Amino acid sequence: MKEKVVRKAILPAGGLGTRFLPATKASPKEMLPIVDKPMIQYAVEEAQACGIEEFIVITGKHKRAIEDHFDAAFKLEESLKKSGKKKLLEEINRLSHLNFAYIRQREALGLGHALSYARPFIRDEPFAVLLSDDIIDPDDTLLKDMIHLYRECKAPVLAIEKVPMSDISRYGVISGTREKENVYRIHDLVEKPPPESAPSDMAIIGRYILTPDIFEILENLAPGKGGEIQLTDALAGLLKRRTLYGYLFTGKRYDAGDKIGYLKATVDLALKNSEVSSHLKEYLIAVAERLKH
Ligand code: G1P
Repeated sequence: MKEKVVRKAILPAGGLGTRFLPATKASPKEMLPIVDKPMIQYAVEEAQACGIEEFIVITGKHKRAIEDHFDAAFKLEESLKKSGKKKLLEEINRLSHLNFAYIRQREALGLGHALSYARPFIRDEPFAVLLSDDIIDPDDTLLKDMIHLYRECKAPVLAIEKVPMSDISRYGVISGTREKENVYRIHDLVEKPPPESAPSDMAIIGRYILTPDIFEILENLAPGKGGEIQLTDALAGLLKRRTLYGYLFTGKRYDAGDKIGYLKATVDLALKNSEVSSHLKEYLIAVAERLKH
């Protein structure tokens, strides 16, 4: 049988973005810029670097700007052409070969609920899920490494990271045994447990390589934590049928769904941007000096 490659990615983007109100009252949090790109574009570029060219974005109310962002912009292109701004023109067209499908989630009933909308588009293929408010350092190879592991073990792979126990209740948490460097065979998964009952300090972060059998489970799943249909609960159900792996990420991740994580991502990614890095560095040094006094 021909091996099935990971060609598709689901980008859930239906959430309300309450942590960024009032900025997200009428605009999607996924469109908040980090330096000069919206958050969701970092996730798209990360997947594209792994050969993924089909994107299924689960949207909701006030999310139309995402569709416009990945669409052609004829008037803007014309005006950039006329004024000879070739580099900018290239930049806005760089992702134009990718295919996007948009599905509207009628109500924000949780991550598992959002994913279940993508079932008809995924059919019988493995797929990636990227939560765009978890920004992975663009120089890192997390998703590539996860796809590599999926091909090796033919089982779903979740990205995990060790987090301080004081933060554990913000995440889905796994327990597992280490099989080899960075690879854990999962024994248990719990969504957002209190620290005293968390099975470990290994949190699920927003990157998954999944197989279509998760949809059968999602379809019959009762609401879990917060009254929402939780992907973590569906994965716990899947674990009864097959092996799941955790891939331990040790690189740099920013929780850009949170104000402080968003600011850290902005500073670090701006420091990697040749247009602004040297000025920003000077400014940060001056700020650090000022804060000493
Ligand atoms: C979601 C998942 C959670 C996971 C987290 C990673 O939670 O439900 O299991 O650990 O993403 O960012 P959310 O951040 O949407 O509340």
